[in-house]
Amino acid sequence: MRPEIAAHAMPTEFQPLKTKATVVIIDDDRNILEMTALVLSKRGFGVFTTHSAYDGLALIAAHSPELVLLDYMMPEMDGLSALRQIKSSFPESYVVLFTGRGSEEIAVELMKGGASEYIIKPFNSRNLVERLENVLRIREIELHNIELQREHGRLQKEIEQWNHDLQQRVREKTEALQSAQNEIAQSEKLAALGYLSAGMAHEIRNPLNSIALFVQLMRQSTVDPEQLGYQSKILKEVDRVDSIIRKLLDASRRTRTVTSDVQIDQVIDTVLEVFAPQIETRKIQVERHYHVIPSPIKADSSELEQIFTNLFLNALDVMSHGGRLDIDLQQQNGRVVIRVGDNGCGIPENILPNVFEPFFSTKASGTGMGLPVAQRIAHIYEGSIVVERTSPAGTVFRLEFPVYS
Ligand SMILES: Nc1ncnc2c1ncn2[C@@H]1O[C@H](COP(=O)(O)OP(=O)(O)OP(=O)(O)O)[C@@H](O)[C@H]1O
Ligand SMILES: [Mg+2]
Repeated sequence: MRPEIAAHAMPTEFQPLKTKATVVIIDDDRNILEMTALVLSKRGFGVFTTHSAYDGLALIAAHSPELVLLDYMMPEMDGLSALRQIKSSFPESYVVLFTGRGSEEIAVELMKGGASEYIIKPFNSRNLVERLENVLRIREIELHNIELQREHGRLQKEIEQWNHDLQQRVREKTEALQSAQNEIAQSEKLAALGYLSAGMAHEIRNPLNSIALFVQLMRQSTVDPEQLGYQSKILKEVDRVDSIIRKLLDASRRTRTVTSDVQIDQVIDTVLEVFAPQIETRKIQVERHYHVIPSPIKADSSELEQIFTNLFLNALDVMSHGGRLDIDLQQQNGRVVIRVGDNGCGIPENILPNVFEPFFSTKASGTGMGLPVAQRIAHIYEGSIVVERTSPAGTVFRLEFPVYS
């Protein structure tokens, strides 16, 4: 920048500033210091003076002046170093440099280094004041701009956060809606099942009884081993149909007895006792890890027994001789967490999404009601049941129930 350019930036008319500015003057020439201080304080500036650059930095730190008048030629510290220190430590203090005539090249360097203006000595007081006023105006505009940019950045961030929150909420709501729809679909299936099975059970059981009766009669009138074999197969299948119907009925019509003192550890133990003979004959190892005595749960204990019965039945179905059933019980954040693990073959990935669907079964004689019923019961008591992990080495179901408080 050439000197004329700095000169023409001066306003021709003096306009009073809104606030009086504070100026720190640093110059080792006492005459200049006194004269400048006098002129500026007469014009309403708050003035602090020093002839040492180090004291000057202390004054700036103490008073946060809007302006610093700095002599370029200081014995202890050169103007460029002082300027750099001021600009890095006190960016809001604008620096105007005094330079001697003939040092315009230096002045250009100083302007590049962050000085706001330079004034060539000797100067007259009117010229000095006008130029300082000008720097102050530019300062005000620039600081205001910075403030606006900060505000703009802040608002931008806020809007981005809102957008992010909004997207997150939409995602959550969509997921909640989806799972509610799935649940409705499942409970509709179950309700339809209850309605149908109650009606059908009667209709089917009567002819079934007759079939069983007639086969039994036939058995009395033959000794042919082949015939007897067929007949006993028929009777077995009749039994199977009957047990399927009984299961459907159980799933749909039972009166509930809800109490708020159900100890889930005891529920599990009760079910394990029922399974004891099977567990014994099949040499299944049962590992119980009850880490706490759980707080009571509000539920119908026989319905909870149903859940574990269904889980254990499934586990026994996939475990060969010498299998291992792991039951882990903990309590976290007001919820009892139970894990039921087996070392069976695991659930293949492609059927994993279907296992809680009513009637979904991979077993020749399965009704596909074990898991949906378990899930429906868990939901009734604000609990949950999920497959926590499964692999060819086994499966772990995780159940959670809120404790009664
Ligand atoms: N522990 C397990 N290990 C491997 N697969 C399992 C396990 N538990 C459930 N499954 C799979 O999930 C399917 C559905 O289980 P669910 O208990 O609902 O029905 P099911 O056992 O087939 O019939 P039901 O229990 O009505 O007699 C099973 O057919 C099986 O494929
Ligand atoms: Mg089952």
